[in-house]
Amino acid sequence: MEVLHEPARLRAVCDQARRAGERVGVVPTMGALHAGHLALIDEARRRGAQRVVVTIFVNPLQFGPNEDYSRYPRTLPDDAAACEARGVDWVFAPDREAMYPAGFASQVRVSGVTEVLEGVFRPGHFDGVTTVVAKLFGLVGDAVAVFGRKDYQQWCVLRRMVRDLDLPIEMHGMPTVREVDGLALSSRNRYLSPEERVRALAIVRGLRAAIASFDAGERDPRVLESMVRAPVEAAFDRIDYVAVADADSLAPIERVEGRAVLAVAAHLGRTRLIDNVVLGEDRP
Ligand code: PAF
Repeated sequence: MEVLHEPARLRAVCDQARRAGERVGVVPTMGALHAGHLALIDEARRRGAQRVVVTIFVNPLQFGPNEDYSRYPRTLPDDAAACEARGVDWVFAPDREAMYPAGFASQVRVSGVTEVLEGVFRPGHFDGVTTVVAKLFGLVGDAVAVFGRKDYQQWCVLRRMVRDLDLPIEMHGMPTVREVDGLALSSRNRYLSPEERVRALAIVRGLRAAIASFDAGERDPRVLESMVRAPVEAAFDRIDYVAVADADSLAPIERVEGRAVLAVAAHLGRTRLIDNVVLGEDRP
């Protein structure tokens, strides 16, 4: 496995693989890899990638001024070892200047689907995500890309971007990987104290209650939301949102008739956690 730092080198190895008739797979990450990321690597292989690149870049453009950019875990040696053990071909770990050299002035913005849920609480976040991912896709070229659906809205936004811009990327989203007790894996879980780790389970309790209620026939978004809101309000310090929305556009809905997602974001101390389920499909 080779660790690449230069964008031009990433482009060169991907071009070379395609010339040799190999399908390239890309798993974009910010590092601090956990079992959820490793499942994305396996999925890229299952989807036909003979060569897999994992990108590791803590992207400053997607963090707000009061967010955790500076304390975000940076664990490149461990991440590279985990990738190598998983059979990854290349890790692309550029530094900030390689991605955003002096004079960098471009932005990729998706409208609509970015303006709800996370978009309300993290203004500019998705512009940072789409800008960096468009750049990564530009370097990698024709490829299979795999993302986790824990960041459900990010998944919707990036799919929209790929369709709108006709990028030669085959997109795949993977269900959320969870701890045995149901907590969604996240690089940010390592911020939680043992006591917060216990309180964090209120999210999964709420999602399970809402799913049970949905399975029993409840279709009123307000009722389903309240089943998550109650335990999360009791255990967390602050809720950003609990919302049922259309599973594709993420627009609010009056009644669950088609596919719908139930998404939550809440704060425990200095840590912000997000989670979601597609009603009738996901079972945390
Ligand atoms: O999901 C992430 O880790 C990041 O948002 C991504 C897609 C790698 C862009 O920086």
